[in-house]
Amino acid sequence: SISCAFRDHANKIYIGAAVSPTYFSDATYQSLAGAQFNFLTPENEMKIDATEPSQGQFNYAQADELVQFAQTNNMKVRGHTLVWHSQVPSWMQSLTGTALEEAMKNHISNVMGRYKGGIYAWDVVNEVFNEDGTLRDSIWTQAMQSGFIATAFQAAREADPNAKLYINDYNIEGVNAKSTGLYNLVQELKTQGVPIDGVGFQAHFTAGSVPTDLQTNLQRFADLGVDVAITELDIGGAGQEAQQATDYATVIQDCLAVSRCVGVTIWGIMDKYSWRASTNPLPFDDNGNAKAAATAIEGALQ
Ligand code: XIL
Repeated sequence: SISCAFRDHANKIYIGAAVSPTYFSDATYQSLAGAQFNFLTPENEMKIDATEPSQGQFNYAQADELVQFAQTNNMKVRGHTLVWHSQVPSWMQSLTGTALEEAMKNHISNVMGRYKGGIYAWDVVNEVFNEDGTLRDSIWTQAMQSGFIATAFQAAREADPNAKLYINDYNIEGVNAKSTGLYNLVQELKTQGVPIDGVGFQAHFTAGSVPTDLQTNLQRFADLGVDVAITELDIGGAGQEAQQATDYATVIQDCLAVSRCVGVTIWGIMDKYSWRASTNPLPFDDNGNAKAAATAIEGALQ
């Protein structure tokens, strides 16, 4: 069990959760969200299909609810996400060339404009790399080649100059071909003066698989002159609660050891509401009770 809240120990880094109003009818879930965490990422509510279901028709009902919840509970918000190959509405998937470029810029300026000044950081582009470190083929590369990335960051800086602008991806937590591709891109963007402030490491792990060079890898990115953050941590560990707890502590410690690591966000709160529910990847069980992982997180934060 835990003696007080994660957020009470979070004096060096933010400690966050992906939250969805879908589960707010569960009072245990809602109270854990506000009591334990001081950083909030909308799990789905700021994605393109949620905010712009038809072209030029923006729907902010659920995103507004989360931003309001965050304000009420004194939490900072990570906006997620503006340019991604997934959860793209069909109207946008059918656009090409300059029409898609204009739609991308319009989307960024509308969504970021709505929350201008109220969002700590935005995942401007998400999951743009293949495992071999090359850029993923998508509607974005087809319309703009690699240039969509710089264009998106420039549009984002214009829309909300106070938000930290991140690139976010998975399987980049250790030093490998994919993270090195990203490293080279971030270096190039910085050299070109493209406004990028941070790199988000999703960290969807399974128990026993946290890369031993996580801290080294976070530090090499920080040394490029950007912030780093663990943005979507979950650790599949059904039947492996002790290993899972050790791994959660390791990730927190690795972030704490890197001065530019601003925070750790866990991708959910209670196992049963996780996108990987069958692997019990979260610190609280189906009833909202603290697992060994929660105790380990609290210990690592102290
Ligand atoms: C996931 C959500 O958790 C699910 O509810 C949804 O069905 C699919 O997306 N990488 C990301 C997140 O950047 O947005 C994804 O979230 C998980 C993988």
